[in-house]
Amino acid sequence: MNRPTIILHMVTTPDGKITGAFLNDPTVQALCEDYYRIHREYAADAYLCGRITFEGSFTFGRQPSTQAFAGQPVDSGDYVACHADKYAVVIDTHGRLGWTDHCIHDDDPGYDAAHIIEVVTEQTPKAYLAYLRSLSISYLICGETQVDPLLLCEKLFSLFGIRKLMLEGGGITDSLFLQAGLVDEMSLVMVPMIDGTAGLSLFEQKQGGTLSFTHTKAVPLSHGGIWLSLR
Ligand SMILES: NC(=O)c1ccc[n+]([C@@H]2O[C@H](COP(=O)([O-])OP(=O)(O)OC[C@H]3O[C@@H](n4cnc5c(N)ncnc54)[C@H](OP(=O)(O)O)[C@@H]3O)[C@@H](O)[C@H]2O)c1
Repeated sequence: MNRPTIILHMVTTPDGKITGAFLNDPTVQALCEDYYRIHREYAADAYLCGRITFEGSFTFGRQPSTQAFAGQPVDSGDYVACHADKYAVVIDTHGRLGWTDHCIHDDDPGYDAAHIIEVVTEQTPKAYLAYLRSLSISYLICGETQVDPLLLCEKLFSLFGIRKLMLEGGGITDSLFLQAGLVDEMSLVMVPMIDGTAGLSLFEQKQGGTLSFTHTKAVPLSHGGIWLSLR
């Protein structure tokens, strides 16, 4: 296999919801600590999310300042700025994330210090690519207008040596990998709660994609939660 093993790792309600007020409940907050612990225990080479999740967790709505790069020529092809012990991969084809550094700064050592790899397409504004280069942020061009998830995985494998990847939402991004048949394993921290107002589902786009597993494990967590491992 010339791509990483992909483990979908998410916090979910029993009815498959991943966003909503339930995430603020103290019980769920405690179980989120289990989620972060399990993330660290997987000791993956990389984690991957969609632009919306990264905006909420790491860039907090900061806009990229690309004006200075308008019209500037940019070398064609992918940009591998450096190799690192850990990578933070984000699909951001419109170039919306504003960064200040080439690595993540986070209190959790499972996320902190990961070198950022932006996933873009041929249509991503050149000024944004020049902006990424100015910050030594790597990027991979993975399609003409749409992201080709298999090509992305092959590049992560061959250009960065990524062998184990945690796929960590949100529902749009998880769907991309489900539909491409690229989810090898699921790691679900299930909270003991249904929230009728909850929003997004584990897989937001419903067209296609099935998964079946042969090995399942259920580990009780504190506060009535369960860690479900499906392989
Ligand atoms: N419960 C959990 O464990 C968990 C984990 C992670 C996230 N979340 C939550 O999930 C929510 C976000 O989920 P979401 O589904 O709305 O968003 P998301 O998957 O985080 O991000 C979706 C965005 O990523 C980009 N993207 C993803 N796939 C793409 C593709 N094939 N081609 C081009 N661009 C692509 C697009 O960005 P553009 O719009 O810029 O084109 C798209 O709008 C947040 O509230 C977050 O807190 C929950």
